[in-house]
Amino acid sequence: MIGSVIGNVDIGKAVIVHVADARDLSFLKDDSFDLIITHPPYMDIIKYSEGKIPADLSNISSLPKFCDEIEKVAKELFRVLKPDRYCAILIGDTRKGRHFVPLAFNVMQRFLKVGFILKEDIPVKDILGLFKQEALALLQSVRIADYYKGKQIPAGYRGLTVSCFYRSSERTLTEAEISPVDALVREMLLQKFGAKIR
Ligand SMILES: C[S@@+](CC[C@H](N)C(=O)[O-])C[C@H]1O[C@@H](n2cnc3c(N)ncnc32)[C@H](O)[C@@H]1O
Repeated sequence: MIGSVIGNVDIGKAVIVHVADARDLSFLKDDSFDLIITHPPYMDIIKYSEGKIPADLSNISSLPKFCDEIEKVAKELFRVLKPDRYCAILIGDTRKGRHFVPLAFNVMQRFLKVGFILKEDIPVKDILGLFKQEALALLQSVRIADYYKGKQIPAGYRGLTVSCFYRSSERTLTEAEISPVDALVREMLLQKFGAKIR
């Protein structure tokens, strides 16, 4: 809202800076942004305009009132963000008197209320758990052989190489026995975690 641009940005296009109240972004089209990064006031910890700008959300010192206004911002951000794209929120908690105020949690709830969903981090143990569950009878061991984060992997994702060792104490396993298990595990990885098999 109170804006300045520092440094040079060269993205081959003009950079447009709007100075506006984030609760009303009606000058922006629906589904038009690839990424939103937002850093709202932490309620009234810092009073940005010292009460001089009525639309300044840092004038608000009540948690429910602040959240009601943030919800309007969230609604607008949800509207202008393209489907399946990301919105990053930077916000911290605060204290009132001698009491902790979980501001970040409350703000997140309002973003969820208007339609955002949380980006989930998937623990490796959940992935390994799926292998054990799906291939239990024949799977002797499973481990992560490689963990990769680099150029070929999109931002926010990791490349995992999973090594599976199938064995039966009764017979020599054939390709025909392993293939369906392998296909099932691939399908489950896709269904449960949205994993891409490379
Ligand atoms: C935590 S600061 C973010 C500072 C920013 N990251 C920067 O480095 O300049 C919160 C900002 O939200 C702005 N703000 C307050 N109410 C607003 C509103 N209704 N719409 C848009 N911005 C608002 C304040 O002026 C302040 O600049």
